Amino acid sequence: MDFLEFAKQRYSVRSYSDKKVENEKIEKILAAGNIAPTAHNNQPQKIYVVQSEEAVNKMKGATRYTFGASCFFIIGYDKNESWHEINNRKGPGAAVDPAIVCTHMMLEAHSLGLGTLWVANFDEELIRKEFNIPQDIVLINILVAGYPSDDACPHAFHNTKKEINKTVEYL
Ligand SMILES: Cc1cc2nc3c(=O)[nH]c(=O)nc-3n(C[C@H](O)[C@H](O)[C@H](O)COP(=O)(O)O)c2cc1C
Repeated sequence: MDFLEFAKQRYSVRSYSDKKVENEKIEKILAAGNIAPTAHNNQPQKIYVVQSEEAVNKMKGATRYTFGASCFFIIGYDKNESWHEINNRKGPGAAVDPAIVCTHMMLEAHSLGLGTLWVANFDEELIRKEFNIPQDIVLINILVAGYPSDDACPHAFHNTKKEINKTVEYL
C-alpha cells in the first residue's frame, strides 16, 4: 500500500477493546519514535509508558479522553536537552521535536493494527504529581493506543478536510 492510502486509513480511535497491547508492539512503537528527526539531533523527547492497572487508573483521573484504553504514552521533552530551549527560542518551537516523535509512533501503531488518539487535553500538573515527573520535563501530549473496539469508527472530523488550495500556496 502506498503511504497516502496508509495515512488515509488512520483515524482517531475513541473506543478501545479490552485486548492488551503486546510488549513487542510497544517496543516497535518506541523504536519508531526513537528514529524520528529532531532539531540538531538533540533527541530531547521523554516518553513515559503507562500500562499497569494502577497507572492506567491514574490516567483516568487526569484526562477524560481515555476511551477504555489500557496503554498510554505520555510525551514530553527535557528543557535542558531541547535545542529550541537551549537557544532561547521560545514559543511552540520546543514542542516540535516530541510532536514529530509522536507522529512516528502513531503511524507505527497504525501499521501494527492498533488505533491511537492524540490527546492534548489533560491535567498536566496532576500527571506530574501522580507519576513524579520532574519540572524540567515539559509534557506535550498523551498518545492513547490500543485495539479498536468493534464499534470504533471515525468522527466526522476525520473526513472534513479543507481543500488543499486553502492551506497551500505555490509561490
Ligand atoms: C495536537 C492535537 C491535539 C489533539 N487533542 C485531542 C484531545 O484532547 N481529545 C481528542 O479527543 N482528540 C484530540 N485530537 C484529535 C483530533 O481531534 C483529530 O486528529 C482531528 O479531529 C482529525 O481527526 P482524525 O485524527 O480522525 O483524522 C488532537 C489532535 C492533535 C493533532
